[in-house]
Amino acid sequence: MLTIRPLANESHDDRANVLRIFLESPSYTELVEGRLPSAEDVEDFFYGKPDAKDVADKSVFGFYVGSEMIGCADVIRAYPTDDCAWIGLLFLSEAHQRRGHGTGALALIDAMAHEWGYRSLQLAAISTNPGGLAFWRCEGFEEIRRTTNQRFTGEVIVMERTIK
Ligand SMILES: CC(C)(COP(=O)(O)OP(=O)(O)OC[C@H]1O[C@@H](n2cnc3c(N)ncnc32)[C@H](O)[C@@H]1OP(=O)(O)O)[C@@H](O)C(=O)NCCC(=O)NCCS
Repeated sequence: MLTIRPLANESHDDRANVLRIFLESPSYTELVEGRLPSAEDVEDFFYGKPDAKDVADKSVFGFYVGSEMIGCADVIRAYPTDDCAWIGLLFLSEAHQRRGHGTGALALIDAMAHEWGYRSLQLAAISTNPGGLAFWRCEGFEEIRRTTNQRFTGEVIVMERTIK
């Protein structure tokens, strides 16, 4: 069974686990940024946020099978609108992908966002990450706009799903 736990940026173990997830899954940063993962990805995971938001609006989580952390996600509250929660990154270690854990992790985030009182979830997927896009579409997310950001190798596709 998949469980969710908040991560703490001051915890050495939590930071090491997030770095491990990135290093175990190098194809993600290769696809969306054309580079290998690095320690900077851990900084960005814990602290990266839209300019309009405060770092206190961001929460980071680990997903566990037993005591093993197999993935992580960050969520920004009330972004880009007051009734919406924004998924910054949902990331599973490569060995644990395509086994239904993504669906399970998203259900846990959805339930939490529902409890927080939000009406929808939004995120940005990058067009050069077809597997990620296929996952979000399969989960009922629909494209609402496209934009570009020079950090990424492809278009930034903003997607949304209503929280039931
Ligand atoms: C994207 C991600 C979170 C999905 O989690 P997952 O556990 O691999 O996906 P699931 O097994 O729960 O898949 C659910 C459904 O999504 C679709 N899907 C998931 N990954 C897919 C892929 N690579 N290609 C095509 N369809 C895919 C399938 O329809 C799948 O159902 P099926 O296995 O019965 O066919 C995970 O693969 C991941 O962490 N990838 C690297 C990081 C990433 O791209 N994150 C998203 C950033 S936008």
